[in-house]
Formats: sequence, C-alpha cells, structure tokens
Amino acid sequence: MQPVKIGLIGFGCVGQGFYYALEQAQLENVSIKKIVVKNPLKERSIASNNFTYDKNEVLHDAEINVLVELIDNAEEAFTIVKTAMENGKHIVTANKKMLAIYLPELLALQKKYQVGLLYEAAVCGAIPIIQTLDRFFANEPLASITGIFNGTTNYVLTKVVQQNTSYEQALLEAQQNGFAETDPTADVQGYDALYKTVIIALHGFGVVLNHKDVLRFGINTLQQNDLKFAKENNYALKLLPTIHETDDSKITAFVLPRFITTSNVLSQVHNELNAVSIYGKVSTQHFYTGKGAGSYPTGAAVLADVAALQNNYTYTYNKLNAKTKIAFTNNAVIKVYISGNNTKYLAQFNFITELETKSNEAFTYKIGTIRITDLKNILEDNDLNSEVFVAVVD
Ligand code: HSE
Repeated sequence: MQPVKIGLIGFGCVGQGFYYALEQAQLENVSIKKIVVKNPLKERSIASNNFTYDKNEVLHDAEINVLVELIDNAEEAFTIVKTAMENGKHIVTANKKMLAIYLPELLALQKKYQVGLLYEAAVCGAIPIIQTLDRFFANEPLASITGIFNGTTNYVLTKVVQQNTSYEQALLEAQQNGFAETDPTADVQGYDALYKTVIIALHGFGVVLNHKDVLRFGINTLQQNDLKFAKENNYALKLLPTIHETDDSKITAFVLPRFITTSNVLSQVHNELNAVSIYGKVSTQHFYTGKGAGSYPTGAAVLADVAALQNNYTYTYNKLNAKTKIAFTNNAVIKVYISGNNTKYLAQFNFITELETKSNEAFTYKIGTIRITDLKNILEDNDLNSEVFVAVVD
C-alpha cells in the first residue's frame, strides 16, 4: 500500500491508546491526518489542530486511505464505515456491536468496494485471536471455542469471588480503569461478550450468527448466596461464552456465567485478562490469554491492524466460503444452576432432569439439565430474568 494516511474517528479510551501505540511503534509512512471528535469544549491531551468536529472532512478527504473507527455507537459507526468504504477507504474498527449487528452488510460492502476491513481490537483486546482463527485455523475443523471475552465482568467476578469486594465497587473500578463500555450494562448483561461470540463464530466456524438467536445471560443478578455456593463447592465463577459442535454436527452457542472447577485453566485468568480456549479436531487443545480491555492493550490491537493493512493483509474468511456449511442450533442440552428468591419463577424452568434442589430461607437453587431453546424462551421474559441467576455448572 502507498503511505497510510489515517482518519481517526473517536479519541476516547481506545483512540488515545491507539495514538500512544502508534507513537511508540514509529511505523514508517503511517500517520494520522485528522481526528474526528464531537465535543469542541473538551480538553484534549494533544494539540487542537489535530481535531475536526466534522466527520465529512475525513470521509471525503481523498488523501485519507485508512479510516480507524473507534466510537461507541454502533449505528453511527456503521453509517461512517459504509460511507468510508464507498469512498474506497480501508477500515480498522474496534466496534464489536457494529460488526455483530451489521455483519452481512459489512461483508457485502467489503466485497463490493474491494477494501480492507480489519477488527482485531473488537475481540479480546490484545489477544490476536481473529488473525489466529482466520489464518492458522483457516482449514482445521474445530470442536469448540470458549473463553473469557469480556474484561469488565472478569474483573468484577475476580473481585467479588476472590476478594470479597462488593459488586458495585468492583464495577466502579472497572469503569474507572477504562475496561467497561460507556453503558456498562452491555458488559454485565453479557451483550459485549455476545457480540464478540458472533465474530468468533464467523472466523472459527464460518457461521454468520444472528445475535438474537444466541442465548445470553450476564452477571447482574448475582447474589451473595450464589457466591456462597461457589465457595462451598470450590468453584470459580466466570462469564464464559461457548461455541461447540453438537452430536448432529451442527454448532450451538451461548453466553452464560459458568461455575468451573479450579483445575480448569480458565479459573486462573484474573481481572481484566481475557482468554480463549480452542479445541481443534486435529490439533486438539490451545489456550491464549492476554489483556482483553483497557486503553493501551486495545490500542495495540488497532496498531497491529493498521500495520497489517499497510502490508495488504486481509482476512481469508476461508470457513465462511467453504462448500460445506455448518448449521446453528439451540436444540442442545446443558447442565445449569438456577437460583432466586422466588420459587414462582424457579418453577417455570422445565428441566429435563432435576439433579439437585436446595433452599435456605428465601433463597433456592436448582441444578438440572435443560434444552437451550427452552431456557432461552423462559429468559426472554423480562420480569423473570431479573429475578433469577443462571449459570452453567461443571
Ligand atoms: N468493555 C469491554 C470489556 C472492552 O470489558 O471487555 C473491551 O472490548
């Protein structure tokens, strides 16, 4: 590629991390021409002549050949990225929500305008998991991928389970450290991990998931009694998105908290660290870990994409383009723990097999096997889902 002239959209936590990473790397022939921000009154850490408040100044600047999109709002980001692609610009983005929601449109636009679209920073921060899945695992069929894809919830769970910090205090610290989304409900309710799961399914299995089809439950209804259950049974608690092959050679996926034994290596992944555990049908077990959130680690992933674009790197989408397609199903059975203070709600879960029920004053938990599609349907009731805590149990 000719010299890279970047138009940077957004100068928040990740934008500033990228700016820092680029300064450290001193890449030849790569520079930021303009940074688009919204608020002219906000004090910035760099000179004001770097900024513009009009995105069109970047979108229609023919000299800018790479657009680095680092804003929050998925809809606005999509409009910007679409216009930039139409204008022949290559894209680097960290916007997992935009990618997950607009995946088919983005893939079509990329094809139509023959531009690069890279998004390593959108999934698990500084772990190079998209390049790894897309290239190293381009051909090998996978049995499963699971892991810790959200730094905020891992930080909160580490603090509340291991250090007896209150949930509110731990979440506040995650926000202050720049791990959480602007609206942290996206983290604690599991949406952020869900969007990343959609992107991982694309590269790991070649499946374009509709995020609405995937069972999702977060950590926001966790109670002290659930933590007591973890302690008494010597479990660690993690939010663990999982994609795995089913007995009928389809794949299923879900984003749920999970009680795991301390012999599971994922139990040793603390604070904002993320991890990805891949089981290849030929190569067997792989484990990757690294910083999954925060300004510098995420900025470093954006830097890696910019450098990759400069070398004309593109994703292969090998599995997406394969002749044999893998189907998605929610018709699989999982073993879950469901707890709450109101047995009226707990009674609605139609377990296939009930394995254990325990009540202690107002608190009850049940463990049993249940079909994912049934669990998903029940949890779609908003009154009910705020009254229970659900986790897979090993
Ligand atoms: N809020 C996200 C997280 C940021 O906590 O993982 C990184 O995608």
